[in-house]
Amino acid sequence: MRITPSILNADFAHLAQEISRVPSADAIHVDVMDAHFVPNLTIGLPVVEAIRRSTEQMLDIHLMIADPDRWAPQYAEAGAESVTFHVEAATAPVRLARELRRLGARASIALNPGTSIDAHAGILGEVDMVLLMTVEPGFGGQSFLDLVLPKIRRTRELLGGRDVWVQVDGGVSVETIERCAEAGADTFVAGSAVYGADDPDRMVQQLRDLAQAACAH
Ligand code: DX5
Ligand code: ZN
Repeated sequence: MRITPSILNADFAHLAQEISRVPSADAIHVDVMDAHFVPNLTIGLPVVEAIRRSTEQMLDIHLMIADPDRWAPQYAEAGAESVTFHVEAATAPVRLARELRRLGARASIALNPGTSIDAHAGILGEVDMVLLMTVEPGFGGQSFLDLVLPKIRRTRELLGGRDVWVQVDGGVSVETIERCAEAGADTFVAGSAVYGADDPDRMVQQLRDLAQAACAH
């Protein structure tokens, strides 16, 4: 069970400091948005490069951008351990996943809430993680969409015994994390739940404990 706090709801003026508040995190989830694929603009490569210089933590880059075929490899070159691109945006997902792995990163595909996993079953052997959006991408602090739960189960089914992480992203909190873990998720993005907490690191541990207990049932 991995907890990957999203810095989208952290203080962008003090990113290094904000990242150091969650030493128990398994990775730092960085939301890159381009105001094309999603109606919001966040940060890009220069900021990710600066984050890379400022922390040893694993970086989990979530690209919500158009044309990831062109831009995603640069994030692997910048030293991110995991790079996720959206299947809705990629032109040649197999080629891109292979390129990311060749550059030494874990390759991951993301699916919006309305995107079928069955349509992408053929490329599951090419990736290290599947990110299932549990809100429409673009903003932190939205409500968790229960309609994605059957897709989490289906993704696990299609993966069989493969060692591929299943990550959920959006509205994950103490209220919703158990449902996700029961359905088969093992990697959890939490933005507002972590950075809105008085003690963000304590929240990371609490979320992990809840996920572990739910999965053991
Ligand atoms: C949404 C982003 C998420 C977001 C999660 O488009 O991909 O990573 O930051 O934030 P919360 O946990 O607040 O829903
Ligand atoms: Zn994200």
